[in-house]
Amino acid sequence: MPIQELTGTTALVTGASRGFGRGVATALSAVGADVVAVARDRGSLEELRAQLGDTVIPVVADAADPVVAGRLVEEYRPRTLVLNAGASPLARPLQQHTWETFSRNWEVDVRQVFNWTRESLLRPLDPGSVVIAFSSGAALGGSPLSGGYAGAKATIRFIISYAAGESERDALGIRFVSVLPTLTPATDLGASGVASYAARQGVDVATFLQGRGPALTPEQVGKSIVALATDPDHDRPAYLLNADGLSQVG
Ligand SMILES: NC(=O)c1ccc[n+]([C@@H]2O[C@H](COP(=O)([O-])OP(=O)(O)OC[C@H]3O[C@@H](n4cnc5c(N)ncnc54)[C@H](OP(=O)(O)O)[C@@H]3O)[C@@H](O)[C@H]2O)c1
Repeated sequence: MPIQELTGTTALVTGASRGFGRGVATALSAVGADVVAVARDRGSLEELRAQLGDTVIPVVADAADPVVAGRLVEEYRPRTLVLNAGASPLARPLQQHTWETFSRNWEVDVRQVFNWTRESLLRPLDPGSVVIAFSSGAALGGSPLSGGYAGAKATIRFIISYAAGESERDALGIRFVSVLPTLTPATDLGASGVASYAARQGVDVATFLQGRGPALTPEQVGKSIVALATDPDHDRPAYLLNADGLSQVG
């Protein structure tokens, strides 16, 4: 199938203020999409708009809020919806978590993906739309210092696969895809994770990173998300993402 153009279409990216989400918003804008950039930090979103231009629409909001999901899906009907926003887990071994700290990524990441996926199916988004949600490589291997993070990210993968099944069943023509990035020190969340795992092993960050291969960057994430959004042959339900690019999971 031919590559689909994004020029003049609307993309909505949650967690666009920094890290992977900023890389994704930048890459989608570079291929001509109008980008609705959602995050809580107004200053960073305004800076993104100043950098990329008026086709970026900053929206200061909590991506986990169901009213935000309903309102923005209805208002913008995005052709490309990227559910990237995620909370930074508190890095501690299991017994030092409370239920509140353990479940943080369920309350933000999972709640967000549940609400937006549901709204995408209910509306429904137009045929040819794609919903891409950020799971994690931790969903496969666990993440013992991050409380409920790995389980939350595994649940995101399930939600997305259930939504793909509903889309197919009702012939909606909406693609639902999970992306599982590997741990990288190139973002705030990743750098904090890397520092915790290095400290746990009693080594410095440089030693911890040795032998792990090149670090995944927000720019590479942005390019890969554009590839997923434009190439209908990327029709698998989930992809691992590292510095070498996308590969099918399972
Ligand atoms: N970095 C890694 O190594 C790695 C690996 C695997 C998966 N991931 C996943 O990739 C995604 C992006 O991670 P990152 O490393 O880029 O993290 P990051 O640098 O900490 O950025 C997180 C983004 O999410 C936004 N955010 C957090 N809570 C939000 C909320 N309630 N509503 C709206 N926006 C919210 C933040 O913006 P505001 O604070 O301005 O709201 C920020 O833009 C996450 O889902 C993460 O779990 C990351």
